[in-house]
Amino acid sequence: MTEATAVDVDPANAEQARAWDGGEGAYWAAHAEQFDRSVAAYHQPFLDAAGIASGDKVLDIGCGTGQTTRDAARAASSGRALGIDLSAQMIGLARRLAAEHGIANADFEQADAQIHPFPAGSFDVAISRTGTMFFGDPAAAFANIARALRPGGRLTMLVWQGPEHNEWIRELSAALAAGRDLPAPPPGAPGPFSLADPERARALLASTGFSGIEAHGLQEPMWFGTDADDAHGFVLGLLGWMLAGTDGHQRDQALGNLRATVTAHDTGHGVFYQSGTWLIHATRT
Ligand SMILES: C[S@@+](CC[C@H](N)C(=O)[O-])C[C@H]1O[C@@H](n2cnc3c(N)ncnc32)[C@H](O)[C@@H]1O
Repeated sequence: MTEATAVDVDPANAEQARAWDGGEGAYWAAHAEQFDRSVAAYHQPFLDAAGIASGDKVLDIGCGTGQTTRDAARAASSGRALGIDLSAQMIGLARRLAAEHGIANADFEQADAQIHPFPAGSFDVAISRTGTMFFGDPAAAFANIARALRPGGRLTMLVWQGPEHNEWIRELSAALAAGRDLPAPPPGAPGPFSLADPERARALLASTGFSGIEAHGLQEPMWFGTDADDAHGFVLGLLGWMLAGTDGHQRDQALGNLRATVTAHDTGHGVFYQSGTWLIHATRT
């Protein structure tokens, strides 16, 4: 157990749990619709790739506020979907939203997917929309997910490609850096880009009980707000931590840069940046 959270978390995930079961999770829960909208272009390809059948038992890893769990439960109409996430606030909202949508075959649990004792072989499908890049010990986590799947069960996950294919993180972090060198996390460190190298993802999955591993690249516009004002506020909530350590002048400069980039990307029907993801599919051996 960590001090910060009421759920059993592997020590390797303590920092992520502090963030997701703390301020970051609270921000995501308060802006659930915006976050769902930001990746809306990927939602249907992701569901199509998961190919959930009516009787399937589905595990949604890092389900957040549960849009993908709800849709998985709809597809698994005579089966069930379980969403698990580190964040109590996001899980709480996921439960409320499923009830509001009248979805009776979705369950939600606050848990660390890396160590949660899922009954062995109990799921037909595991899905994750940008929820599998944060494991402190990815080999342990994917082995645990493999154990939860029945032999022949399928894993479908959407992960970010590297910053070179994601205009949004390049432009928004450059704006907020305002000329400072923001430290880049070491390659493979837990974070949004840890599975950006498909060869790393392939090796990880192959060594943890998966075969038939395929990565399909997608490029889609990513939404950040209805207009420049809306995007300015949304991005500051998401990436405002990048302003830590700025003096007053740097802060003004960063905010001005942010205003300029979201204005330049305001299409008149929303603020969009280019993005790239991998849709990774694997079968439990
Ligand atoms: C980028 S968010 C994506 C949320 C959701 N899948 C979506 O598409 O909106 C990543 C999620 O993964 C969850 N997460 C990170 N590490 C986890 C772990 N070890 N076990 C369970 N959930 C985890 C976080 O709490 C967070 O909600």
